[in-house]
Amino acid sequence: MGVGIAQVFAAKGHKISLISINQESLDQGKIAIQNSLERMLKRNRITSEEMKNTLNGVTTFTDLEDGVKQADLVIEAIPENVDLKLKIFAQLDSIAPASAPLATNTSSISITRIAAATKRPDKVIGMHFMNPVPVMKLVEVIRGYATSDATTQLVMDLSRELGKVPVEVNDYPGFVANRILMPMLNEAMYTLWEGVGGVAEIDTVMKLGMAHPMGPLQLADYIGLDTCLAILNVMKEGFGRQHYQPCPLLVNMVMAGKLGRKSGEGFYDYSGGGKELVVSNSFK
Ligand code: 3HC
Repeated sequence: MGVGIAQVFAAKGHKISLISINQESLDQGKIAIQNSLERMLKRNRITSEEMKNTLNGVTTFTDLEDGVKQADLVIEAIPENVDLKLKIFAQLDSIAPASAPLATNTSSISITRIAAATKRPDKVIGMHFMNPVPVMKLVEVIRGYATSDATTQLVMDLSRELGKVPVEVNDYPGFVANRILMPMLNEAMYTLWEGVGGVAEIDTVMKLGMAHPMGPLQLADYIGLDTCLAILNVMKEGFGRQHYQPCPLLVNMVMAGKLGRKSGEGFYDYSGGGKELVVSNSFK
Protein backbone atom coordinates (compact mmCIF):
# COMPACT_ATOMS: atom_id res chain seq x y z
CA MET A 1 0.00 0.00 0.00
CA GLY A 2 2.96 2.29 0.60
CA VAL A 3 3.52 2.43 -3.13
CA GLY A 4 -0.08 3.52 -3.80
CA ILE A 5 0.19 6.14 -1.05
CA ALA A 6 3.45 7.47 -2.53
CA GLN A 7 1.76 7.68 -5.93
CA VAL A 8 -1.25 9.73 -4.79
CA PHE A 9 0.96 12.20 -2.89
CA ALA A 10 3.43 12.54 -5.77
CA ALA A 11 0.52 13.10 -8.18
CA LYS A 12 -0.32 16.25 -6.19
CA GLY A 13 3.23 17.60 -6.45
CA HIS A 14 4.63 16.38 -3.12
CA LYS A 15 8.23 15.17 -3.10
CA ILE A 16 8.14 11.61 -1.82
CA SER A 17 10.80 9.44 -0.20
CA LEU A 18 9.70 5.83 -0.67
CA ILE A 19 11.60 3.76 1.88
CA SER A 20 12.11 0.01 2.20
CA ILE A 21 14.89 -2.19 3.56
CA ASN A 22 14.78 -4.04 0.28
CA GLN A 23 15.92 -2.40 -2.98
CA GLU A 24 14.11 -5.04 -5.03
CA SER A 25 10.75 -4.15 -3.49
CA LEU A 26 11.48 -0.47 -4.17
CA ASP A 27 12.18 -1.29 -7.82
CA GLN A 28 8.95 -3.29 -7.98
CA GLY A 29 7.16 -0.36 -6.33
CA LYS A 30 8.34 2.06 -9.01
CA ILE A 31 7.13 -0.37 -11.69
CA ALA A 32 3.75 -0.64 -9.95
CA ILE A 33 3.44 3.17 -9.94
CA GLN A 34 4.35 3.28 -13.63
CA ASN A 35 1.75 0.58 -14.45
CA SER A 36 -0.96 2.36 -12.50
CA LEU A 37 -0.14 5.70 -14.18
CA GLU A 38 -0.10 4.07 -17.63
CA ARG A 39 -3.56 2.72 -16.95
CA MET A 40 -4.75 6.21 -16.03
CA LEU A 41 -3.02 7.73 -19.06
CA LYS A 42 -4.69 5.22 -21.41
CA ARG A 43 -8.08 6.25 -20.05
CA ASN A 44 -7.22 9.96 -20.40
CA ARG A 45 -7.39 10.46 -16.64
CA ILE A 46 -3.93 12.09 -16.63
CA THR A 47 -1.55 13.63 -19.21
CA SER A 48 1.88 12.24 -20.08
CA GLU A 49 3.37 15.35 -18.40
CA GLU A 50 1.54 14.51 -15.17
CA MET A 51 2.70 10.92 -15.44
CA LYS A 52 6.31 12.04 -15.80
CA ASN A 53 6.08 14.49 -12.90
CA THR A 54 4.51 11.90 -10.62
CA LEU A 55 7.21 9.35 -11.38
CA ASN A 56 9.94 11.94 -10.90
CA GLY A 57 8.39 12.97 -7.58
CA VAL A 58 9.19 9.59 -6.01
CA THR A 59 12.76 8.93 -4.82
CA THR A 60 13.63 5.58 -3.27
CA PHE A 61 15.72 4.97 -0.14
CA THR A 62 16.92 1.87 1.67
CA ASP A 63 18.22 3.92 4.61
CA LEU A 64 15.46 5.05 6.98
CA GLU A 65 17.35 8.08 8.27
CA ASP A 66 18.23 9.36 4.78
CA GLY A 67 14.58 8.98 3.78
CA VAL A 68 12.93 10.77 6.73
CA LYS A 69 15.47 13.26 8.07
CA GLN A 70 13.87 16.18 6.16
CA ALA A 71 10.29 14.94 6.08
CA ASP A 72 7.26 17.18 6.75
CA LEU A 73 5.13 14.06 7.31
CA VAL A 74 5.96 10.36 7.63
CA ILE A 75 3.45 7.63 6.71
CA GLU A 76 4.36 4.12 7.82
CA ALA A 77 2.94 1.21 5.77
CA ILE A 78 4.90 -1.82 6.98
CA PRO A 79 3.19 -5.20 7.65
CA GLU A 80 0.62 -5.59 10.45
CA ASN A 81 3.09 -6.63 13.14
CA VAL A 82 2.79 -4.67 16.36
CA ASP A 83 6.37 -5.25 17.57
CA LEU A 84 7.75 -4.11 14.24
CA LYS A 85 5.54 -1.01 14.29
CA LEU A 86 6.62 -0.10 17.83
CA LYS A 87 10.27 -0.48 16.87
CA ILE A 88 9.92 1.61 13.71
CA PHE A 89 8.00 4.39 15.49
CA ALA A 90 10.65 4.65 18.21
CA GLN A 91 13.26 4.94 15.45
CA LEU A 92 11.20 7.45 13.45
CA ASP A 93 10.74 9.55 16.57
CA SER A 94 14.47 9.86 17.00
CA ILE A 95 15.33 10.70 13.38
CA ALA A 96 12.36 12.57 11.82
CA PRO A 97 12.15 16.35 12.37
CA ALA A 98 10.46 17.09 15.72
CA SER A 99 7.70 19.00 13.93
CA ALA A 100 6.72 16.12 11.63
CA PRO A 101 3.50 14.18 12.30
CA LEU A 102 4.02 10.41 12.20
CA ALA A 103 1.08 8.65 10.56
CA THR A 104 0.44 4.94 10.35
CA ASN A 105 -1.51 3.13 7.64
CA THR A 106 -2.25 0.32 10.09
CA SER A 107 -5.44 -1.63 9.38
CA SER A 108 -6.28 -2.35 13.00
CA ILE A 109 -3.45 -1.85 15.51
CA SER A 110 -3.95 0.68 18.32
CA ILE A 111 -2.75 4.18 17.40
CA THR A 112 -2.49 4.94 21.13
CA ARG A 113 -0.10 2.02 21.62
CA ILE A 114 2.02 3.02 18.62
CA ALA A 115 2.06 6.65 19.80
CA ALA A 116 3.31 5.56 23.23
CA ALA A 117 6.51 4.30 21.58
CA THR A 118 7.32 7.95 20.74
CA LYS A 119 7.86 11.19 22.62
CA ARG A 120 5.36 12.95 20.34
CA PRO A 121 2.06 11.09 20.89
CA ASP A 122 0.13 14.26 20.00
CA LYS A 123 1.60 14.00 16.49
CA VAL A 124 0.87 10.31 15.93
CA ILE A 125 -2.28 9.48 13.95
CA GLY A 126 -3.86 6.75 11.84
CA MET A 127 -4.14 7.50 8.12
CA HIS A 128 -5.74 4.34 6.77
CA PHE A 129 -5.93 4.17 2.98
CA MET A 130 -7.87 1.52 1.06
CA ASN A 131 -6.59 -0.65 -1.75
CA PRO A 132 -6.18 0.16 -4.61
CA VAL A 133 -5.07 3.50 -3.17
CA PRO A 134 -5.19 5.49 -6.44
CA VAL A 135 -8.84 4.47 -6.93
CA MET A 136 -10.49 4.24 -3.50
CA LYS A 137 -11.79 7.54 -2.14
CA LEU A 138 -11.75 6.80 1.58
CA VAL A 139 -9.09 7.72 4.11
CA GLU A 140 -10.03 6.53 7.60
CA VAL A 141 -8.40 9.05 9.96
CA ILE A 142 -7.92 7.59 13.42
CA ARG A 143 -7.25 9.72 16.47
CA GLY A 144 -5.23 8.07 19.20
CA TYR A 145 -5.80 8.93 22.87
CA ALA A 146 -3.33 11.83 22.71
CA THR A 147 -3.59 12.90 19.04
CA SER A 148 -3.96 16.69 18.93
CA ASP A 149 -6.63 18.66 17.10
CA ALA A 150 -3.87 20.28 15.02
CA THR A 151 -2.50 16.92 13.82
CA THR A 152 -6.01 15.66 13.03
CA GLN A 153 -6.88 18.82 11.11
CA LEU A 154 -3.65 18.65 9.12
CA VAL A 155 -4.28 15.04 8.07
CA MET A 156 -7.96 15.71 7.25
CA ASP A 157 -6.99 18.69 5.06
CA LEU A 158 -4.16 16.79 3.39
CA SER A 159 -6.47 13.88 2.58
CA ARG A 160 -8.92 16.25 0.91
CA GLU A 161 -6.06 17.80 -1.06
CA LEU A 162 -5.25 14.30 -2.37
CA GLY A 163 -8.82 14.09 -3.71
CA LYS A 164 -9.85 11.66 -0.98
CA VAL A 165 -12.71 11.76 1.50
CA PRO A 166 -11.38 11.58 5.06
CA VAL A 167 -13.59 10.15 7.80
CA GLU A 168 -12.54 10.70 11.41
CA VAL A 169 -13.01 7.78 13.80
CA ASN A 170 -11.86 6.75 17.26
CA ASP A 171 -9.12 4.33 18.22
CA TYR A 172 -10.60 0.87 18.96
CA PRO A 173 -9.46 -2.43 17.41
CA GLY A 174 -10.19 -2.56 13.67
CA PHE A 175 -11.48 1.06 13.80
CA VAL A 176 -14.60 1.20 11.59
CA ALA A 177 -13.54 -0.16 8.18
CA ASN A 178 -12.07 -3.48 9.24
CA ARG A 179 -14.40 -3.94 12.22
CA ILE A 180 -17.22 -4.25 9.72
CA LEU A 181 -15.38 -5.72 6.71
CA MET A 182 -13.35 -8.50 8.37
CA PRO A 183 -16.23 -10.33 10.09
CA MET A 184 -17.92 -10.47 6.69
CA LEU A 185 -14.83 -11.92 4.98
CA ASN A 186 -14.35 -14.34 7.90
CA GLU A 187 -18.00 -15.44 7.66
CA ALA A 188 -17.56 -16.08 3.92
CA MET A 189 -14.62 -18.35 4.82
CA TYR A 190 -16.69 -20.22 7.44
CA THR A 191 -19.44 -20.59 4.84
CA LEU A 192 -16.94 -22.18 2.47
CA TRP A 193 -15.33 -24.31 5.20
CA GLU A 194 -18.69 -25.68 6.33
CA GLY A 195 -19.54 -26.59 2.73
CA VAL A 196 -22.54 -24.32 2.43
CA GLY A 197 -21.27 -23.01 -0.91
CA GLY A 198 -18.22 -23.11 -3.16
CA VAL A 199 -15.77 -20.25 -3.78
CA ALA A 200 -17.43 -19.05 -6.99
CA GLU A 201 -20.93 -19.47 -5.54
CA ILE A 202 -20.19 -17.44 -2.39
CA ASP A 203 -18.55 -14.65 -4.35
CA THR A 204 -21.29 -14.59 -6.97
CA VAL A 205 -23.98 -14.30 -4.29
CA MET A 206 -22.30 -11.24 -2.81
CA LYS A 207 -21.40 -9.65 -6.16
CA LEU A 208 -24.78 -10.05 -7.83
CA GLY A 209 -26.94 -10.08 -4.72
CA MET A 210 -25.35 -7.21 -2.82
CA ALA A 211 -23.65 -5.29 -5.64
CA HIS A 212 -20.17 -5.74 -4.16
CA PRO A 213 -17.48 -5.09 -6.80
CA MET A 214 -15.54 -8.14 -5.61
CA GLY A 215 -16.82 -11.22 -3.77
CA PRO A 216 -15.57 -11.58 -0.16
CA LEU A 217 -13.16 -14.42 -0.97
CA GLN A 218 -11.71 -12.54 -3.93
CA LEU A 219 -11.40 -9.44 -1.75
CA ALA A 220 -9.67 -11.43 1.01
CA ASP A 221 -7.16 -12.70 -1.58
CA TYR A 222 -6.69 -9.13 -2.79
CA ILE A 223 -6.05 -7.74 0.71
CA GLY A 224 -3.78 -10.70 1.60
CA LEU A 225 -4.88 -13.60 3.80
CA ASP A 226 -2.05 -12.96 6.28
CA THR A 227 -3.28 -9.38 6.68
CA CYS A 228 -6.89 -10.58 7.18
CA LEU A 229 -5.70 -13.03 9.84
CA ALA A 230 -3.61 -10.38 11.61
CA ILE A 231 -6.56 -7.97 11.71
CA LEU A 232 -8.98 -10.61 13.04
CA ASN A 233 -6.47 -11.53 15.75
CA VAL A 234 -6.11 -7.88 16.80
CA MET A 235 -9.91 -7.62 17.14
CA LYS A 236 -10.21 -10.97 18.92
CA GLU A 237 -7.55 -9.97 21.46
CA GLY A 238 -8.75 -6.39 21.75
CA PHE A 239 -12.42 -7.20 22.43
CA GLY A 240 -12.03 -10.73 23.84
CA ARG A 241 -15.04 -11.86 21.81
CA GLN A 242 -15.37 -15.25 20.13
CA HIS A 243 -17.17 -13.40 17.33
CA TYR A 244 -13.79 -12.47 15.80
CA GLN A 245 -12.31 -15.99 15.96
CA PRO A 246 -10.51 -16.48 12.61
CA CYS A 247 -11.89 -19.31 10.50
CA PRO A 248 -9.60 -22.39 10.84
CA LEU A 249 -9.43 -22.55 7.05
CA LEU A 250 -7.90 -19.06 6.98
CA VAL A 251 -5.37 -20.05 9.65
CA ASN A 252 -4.39 -23.16 7.68
CA MET A 253 -4.06 -21.30 4.41
CA VAL A 254 -1.77 -18.69 5.96
CA MET A 255 0.37 -21.43 7.57
CA ALA A 256 0.60 -23.11 4.15
CA GLY A 257 1.82 -19.86 2.57
CA LYS A 258 -1.36 -19.45 0.49
CA LEU A 259 -1.70 -15.72 1.05
CA GLY A 260 -3.87 -14.77 -1.91
CA ARG A 261 -2.88 -12.65 -4.87
CA LYS A 262 0.58 -11.74 -3.55
CA SER A 263 1.68 -15.38 -3.19
CA GLY A 264 0.02 -16.51 -6.43
CA GLU A 265 -2.70 -18.58 -4.74
CA GLY A 266 -5.45 -18.24 -2.19
CA PHE A 267 -9.10 -18.99 -2.84
CA TYR A 268 -8.22 -18.30 -6.48
CA ASP A 269 -5.19 -19.19 -8.59
CA TYR A 270 -3.25 -16.19 -9.92
CA SER A 271 -0.55 -18.10 -11.79
CA GLY A 272 -2.09 -16.91 -15.08
CA GLY A 273 -1.63 -13.24 -14.10
CA GLY A 274 -4.97 -12.83 -12.30
CA LYS A 275 -6.88 -11.30 -15.24
CA GLU A 276 -9.33 -14.23 -15.26
CA LEU A 277 -10.80 -15.47 -11.97
CA VAL A 278 -9.73 -19.11 -11.65
CA VAL A 279 -10.78 -20.99 -8.51
CA SER A 280 -7.77 -22.60 -6.80
CA ASN A 281 -7.44 -26.37 -7.31
CA SER A 282 -7.80 -26.83 -3.54
CA PHE A 283 -11.44 -25.69 -3.78
CA LYS A 284 -12.53 -27.43 -7.00
N1 3HC B 1 -4.26 2.30 -10.38
C1 3HC B 1 -4.97 3.16 -11.10
N2 3HC B 1 -6.21 2.91 -11.55
C2 3HC B 1 -6.73 1.71 -11.25
C3 3HC B 1 -6.04 0.74 -10.49
C4 3HC B 1 -4.75 1.08 -10.04
N3 3HC B 1 -4.02 0.26 -9.30
N4 3HC B 1 -6.86 -0.33 -10.34
C5 3HC B 1 -8.00 -0.06 -10.98
N5 3HC B 1 -7.92 1.16 -11.53
C6 3HC B 1 -8.96 1.87 -12.27
C7 3HC B 1 -9.18 1.33 -13.64
O1 3HC B 1 -8.27 1.88 -14.56
C8 3HC B 1 -10.60 1.75 -13.91
O2 3HC B 1 -10.60 3.14 -14.26
P1 3HC B 1 -11.76 3.85 -15.12
O3 3HC B 1 -12.96 3.95 -14.21
O4 3HC B 1 -11.19 5.16 -15.46
O5 3HC B 1 -12.05 2.98 -16.29
C9 3HC B 1 -11.27 1.59 -12.56
O6 3HC B 1 -10.22 1.66 -11.60
C10 3HC B 1 -11.96 0.26 -12.45
O7 3HC B 1 -11.02 -0.79 -12.71
P2 3HC B 1 -11.28 -2.06 -13.63
O8 3HC B 1 -12.26 -1.69 -14.72
O9 3HC B 1 -9.99 -2.65 -14.03
O10 3HC B 1 -11.88 -3.16 -12.69
P3 3HC B 1 -13.09 -3.10 -11.73
O11 3HC B 1 -14.22 -2.29 -12.29
O12 3HC B 1 -13.31 -4.51 -11.35
O13 3HC B 1 -12.51 -2.33 -10.44
C11 3HC B 1 -11.55 -2.37 -8.32
C12 3HC B 1 -11.39 -2.78 -9.75
C13 3HC B 1 -11.57 -0.83 -8.21
C14 3HC B 1 -10.37 -2.92 -7.55
C15 3HC B 1 -12.92 -2.94 -7.79
O14 3HC B 1 -12.97 -4.33 -8.03
C16 3HC B 1 -13.15 -2.69 -6.33
O15 3HC B 1 -13.58 -1.61 -5.94
N6 3HC B 1 -12.90 -3.71 -5.50
C17 3HC B 1 -13.07 -3.62 -4.05
C18 3HC B 1 -11.88 -2.91 -3.45
C19 3HC B 1 -12.01 -2.77 -1.98
O16 3HC B 1 -12.97 -3.17 -1.34
N7 3HC B 1 -10.96 -2.18 -1.38
C20 3HC B 1 -10.87 -2.04 0.04
C21 3HC B 1 -10.11 -3.19 0.57
S1 3HC B 1 -9.94 -3.09 2.31
C22 3HC B 1 -8.56 -2.20 2.54
O17 3HC B 1 -7.83 -1.85 1.65
C23 3HC B 1 -8.23 -1.89 3.95
C24 3HC B 1 -7.16 -2.79 4.52
O18 3HC B 1 -6.90 -2.36 5.83
C25 3HC B 1 -7.52 -4.24 4.57
